[in-house]
Amino acid sequence: MSYASETRRRRTFAIISHPDAGKTTLTEKLLLFSGAIQIAGAVKGRKASRHATSDWMEIEKQRGISVASSVMQMSYRDHVINLLDTPGHKDFSEDTYRVLTAVDSALMVIDAANGVESQTRRLIEVCRQRHTPIITFVNKFDREVRDPLDIMDEVERELGMPCCPITWPVGQGKSFGGIINLRTQSMTVFTPGSDRGPKDFEVIPLSDGDKLRARFGKAFDDALESMELAVGASAEWDHEAFLAGKLTPVFFGSGVNNFGVMEVLDAVVDMSPPPGQRIAFTELNRTREERVVKPEDSGFSGVVFKVQANMDSNHRDRIAFVRVASGKYTPGMKMKVQRTGKELRPTSVVTFMSQRREAVDEAYAGDIIGFTIHGGVQLGDSITDGPSLQFTGLPFFAPEMFMTVVLKNPLRTKQLQQGLMQLGEEGAIQVFKPDVGGNMLLGAVGQLQFEVVQHRLKTEYDCDVRLEGCQYTGARWITADSPAELREFENAYPLRLAHDAADTLAYLCTSPYDVRLAQERFPKIHFHPLREHA
Ligand code: G4P
Repeated sequence: MSYASETRRRRTFAIISHPDAGKTTLTEKLLLFSGAIQIAGAVKGRKASRHATSDWMEIEKQRGISVASSVMQMSYRDHVINLLDTPGHKDFSEDTYRVLTAVDSALMVIDAANGVESQTRRLIEVCRQRHTPIITFVNKFDREVRDPLDIMDEVERELGMPCCPITWPVGQGKSFGGIINLRTQSMTVFTPGSDRGPKDFEVIPLSDGDKLRARFGKAFDDALESMELAVGASAEWDHEAFLAGKLTPVFFGSGVNNFGVMEVLDAVVDMSPPPGQRIAFTELNRTREERVVKPEDSGFSGVVFKVQANMDSNHRDRIAFVRVASGKYTPGMKMKVQRTGKELRPTSVVTFMSQRREAVDEAYAGDIIGFTIHGGVQLGDSITDGPSLQFTGLPFFAPEMFMTVVLKNPLRTKQLQQGLMQLGEEGAIQVFKPDVGGNMLLGAVGQLQFEVVQHRLKTEYDCDVRLEGCQYTGARWITADSPAELREFENAYPLRLAHDAADTLAYLCTSPYDVRLAQERFPKIHFHPLREHA
């Protein structure tokens, strides 16, 4: 098969939701229905075994939250589907944002009783900025939940884009009768339980109205009425608008009961886009030029969107997750890290098959592969089989909380520095080294990041550290149009400057006024709240 036809049959999407909306359950059912796993409970099992084998995940276990994102590949209807899970906890939102840069679409799971919740809102915002197409799944209709019209209205408002219902629920909770598929004009009858396969549900055409009415009574008539209202009030299906992130198809169901899931899996294949082109820069004779990288281009290229350590304590290693952007990966091929120009020599390269890591035979644009590495690779790095190319767009957000790191045993200084450097490279936390003396600073977006890092420094690097509060409340990355201006700024604030793990200059502030004052004093200096890896 040609590169073009290989990439056309790939779908890479992230599954996003507020904690408890049913993301893990739905993930499991998608794997089940695609044939990637045989028994229900395997994904929860995966969660459990991850806990058991990975010591730093103890924190996750204690708190019952998902710290790490993971990747799963499945095949369905002759398509290769890459599903990227995202941590639901807000303290790890940075990780989620980066995962969203590696996908071509998103599947949003909403708890029908709670509607659009806070975490979902933040994620939607990122999808919107990136014009990521979103499929919406409204879950838990087997419970007493909100009116579907009400939910749809809320999704429209929160997403700021029209909804287009593809399925519509008949009743809910005890009276939940099933879903009407607007396209096929038929009703799939709900049967509780989690042992049904995709084809095991009864389907009755809407033209058999009398039969449906006799069986579902008022719930059926009410559903027809509200469906008509919904169709009248909502947008018609417009594939182009969906691909532009301007319309979302909405599905209803109950993940735990395997119900309404098949429709979503089919939508991923039929509606979601294959890998698209990406923008990169090439540097020729010291001038930067923009380059469009197409998935079917023959040169291999990819970008590291996540680095994770010790996923499994049996392999004490770090994995760089690479989203392939173009070309084809084959084992043994020579690759370069563009930032350093160094050859990449991974000890192994794996793909992620539901619960296992497997050696990769080949990978194309859209696929996610994991390189086992020992340093030399950072978040945001571009990797190619030769040509100079740097992808942009991997976001780092200015931290809002800071702590200084105090080492209890000074003899472990070297290990601490190594640990902090690696954790910084992974993006588990942001590490700042003040330009003038002082202890290392940790910057986080959420409090839990500090706890994870403290725990990991102890268990992985044998460094017992105390974290102490400090006066900083924010940071801005600094750029200037001319070296002279930058020097002048640096001379004015020597005690406020630090370099992060990527060696980028940052200004540390103690209040929002700080930035404003510094900005007024140095109008030509640029203060960035967001750094994109470039
Ligand atoms: P998350 O990954 O988004 O955090 O959610 P997860 O799938 O873990 O689901 C959260 C809870 O919601 C789980 O219950 C799960 O069983 C339940 N759930 C998921 N889908 C449905 C559904 O369609 N209907 C109903 N009624 N419940 C659903 P739990 O009690 O926290 O865990 P468990 O003991 O059931 O595994």
